[in-house]
Amino acid sequence: MRTDYCGLIDKKYLGQTVTVKGWAHRRRDHGGVIFIDLRDREGLVQVVIDPDTPEAFKTADGSRNEFVLSVTGIVRERPAGTANSKMISGEIEILAKEIDVLNTAATPPFQIDDENLSENVRLTNRVIDLRRPQMQKNLRLRYRVAMSVRRYLDRQGFIDIETPMLTRSTPEGARDYLVPSRVHPGEFFALPQSPQLFKQLLMVAGFDRYYQITKCFRDEDLRADRQPEFTQIDIETSFLSEAEIMDITETMTRELFDEVLDVKLGDFPRMTYADAMFLYGSDKPDLRIPLAFTELTDLMKNETFKVFRAAADLPNGRVVALRIPGGASLTRKEIDEYTQFVAIYGAKGLAYIKVNDATRLSNGEDSGLQSPIVKFLSEAALVEIVKRTGAVDGDLIFFGADKTKVVNEAIGALRLKIGHEKGFAVKEWKPLWVVDFPMFEHDEEDDRWTACHHPFTAPKPGHEDLLESDPGACLARAYDMVLNGWEIGGGSIRIHRAEVQEKVFAALNITPEEQQNKFGFLLDNLKFGAPPHGGLAFGLDRLVTLMAGAESIRDVIAFPKTQRAQCLLTNAPNAVDDKQLRELNLRLRQKAEPAQA
Ligand code: AMO
Ligand code: AMP
Repeated sequence: MRTDYCGLIDKKYLGQTVTVKGWAHRRRDHGGVIFIDLRDREGLVQVVIDPDTPEAFKTADGSRNEFVLSVTGIVRERPAGTANSKMISGEIEILAKEIDVLNTAATPPFQIDDENLSENVRLTNRVIDLRRPQMQKNLRLRYRVAMSVRRYLDRQGFIDIETPMLTRSTPEGARDYLVPSRVHPGEFFALPQSPQLFKQLLMVAGFDRYYQITKCFRDEDLRADRQPEFTQIDIETSFLSEAEIMDITETMTRELFDEVLDVKLGDFPRMTYADAMFLYGSDKPDLRIPLAFTELTDLMKNETFKVFRAAADLPNGRVVALRIPGGASLTRKEIDEYTQFVAIYGAKGLAYIKVNDATRLSNGEDSGLQSPIVKFLSEAALVEIVKRTGAVDGDLIFFGADKTKVVNEAIGALRLKIGHEKGFAVKEWKPLWVVDFPMFEHDEEDDRWTACHHPFTAPKPGHEDLLESDPGACLARAYDMVLNGWEIGGGSIRIHRAEVQEKVFAALNITPEEQQNKFGFLLDNLKFGAPPHGGLAFGLDRLVTLMAGAESIRDVIAFPKTQRAQCLLTNAPNAVDDKQLRELNLRLRQKAEPAQA
């Protein structure tokens, strides 16, 4: 019988006989004495096998990395100079009396402690990868986060109610994953993009406080912080205002950080969407970076420099400055690299001014400003730019001029890049709420309005009439929680009256027939006395990624998909045979190509 976990044996055990079980992490032969670091979920312990115990020695000699061993022996102090104070078991070792091989192991594809593995190798060999202490730590952290959240929500009277996975599509803005029905040929279930409509219906049904930690499925372009299948902490309440819902979920986040990381989060400032875009070009600003945009659009309407003037004159154009303190020391090469970087976001250039001497703000030969563009700007504008940005000697000012969307994305990304690369970011947690989102976004390609959050979000009181007259100006009762530049949660007060819901559908160009066909079950039930309700959903994977200090959300998911939405461990998705297709009444328009990694 196992008496203890390897990683938990410390000096208190000196002189005791213990039995531990685990994997041979490393094996070293020191001229007659064999050392094996035995690993289990709690960590490593050093086992010493002396030739004086010939049978144990023979077994140890035949053992290889990742063999599964049972070891019984006496705990003794490590010789002076070999102790490792960083590990609980670092000051002791086990002198083996008996070793059993519980299983052998093929040579693993990589060393467990190899830090330089490609993600493809790790995901293909995920089981071995999960043995790495960092992955064990990440998944245990994830569990602790989920438990802390469950305990908190339970204390607040929320109950966990499961909602279906095989369902109708709920539009959260992504493509659906579809599941063909065998029983109903030609018909499909959609996997839920979120439990949104079901949780609303649970409010209509009178459950008052619902939560669920559940999977959502979205077929969208993947990035470092997105997975096709991810987990939400999904919350819904009846009769509460946005302030009350934000208070409950903010307190949950505070208690979570305190309990799991021993971190006391500071203020959650509230920032309007408009301010966030104005100051940072982003609806999820990373407030660790103390750099912000300076608006210049008005100023440039009076200038002749074409690049700036043309953007300022566009109805949807914008000119901004970004002051980089001390930035005058940036080299030509660095500025060229930043110019290439903003080009990724569609910026056609990256004008700049180095402020060498702010007492000489002119556009002539003797200017204290160094820049390819000062000669094109009026002196009044130069004075105003320096005043508005607050630039002092030694600073550099970057400029973005284009359509607002391009400027926000390009200069917003530049702010993050320079902020992190040049050490402007403070090492603190920086949460905030972003509020007052617009109801709709204009889709330029298709020239139509789409829902900013989702189509079930209520307009601000007093904005109902704008649904028809000026959808672009209509604000929503929506709020996002942002942490260190990541959107970790989003929610809203919902529409609880069928006639308002119908108006919003109409603004989204959904015809009455389509409304009834797709959302009849919602509209009908709203008519049976739906209470005012609202909620929020956190992205659990993102939250845990931040808390673990991991680089990608794939590092906090046991079996994630790649950037190409594949599971390299099981080789899913995969082709199926004709018989299965026939049962589902499906025929492929094209033979599937064999999957490539
Ligand atoms: P939303 O679409 O904003 O809202 O999603 C809520 C949170 O889920 C996380 N998230 C993701 N995480 C990983 N991979 C993805 N592909 C992904 N997509 C979203 C984000 C996000 O903030 N039903 C609404 C919530 C509500 O209104 O209550 C919803 O799903 O952290
Ligand atoms: P040009 O007149 O194209 O040679 O540009 C003059 C300067 O303005 C160069 O430093 C360009 O990098 C910069 N520039 C050009 N287009 C833009 C733009 N849309 N936004 C910001 N800077 C720009």
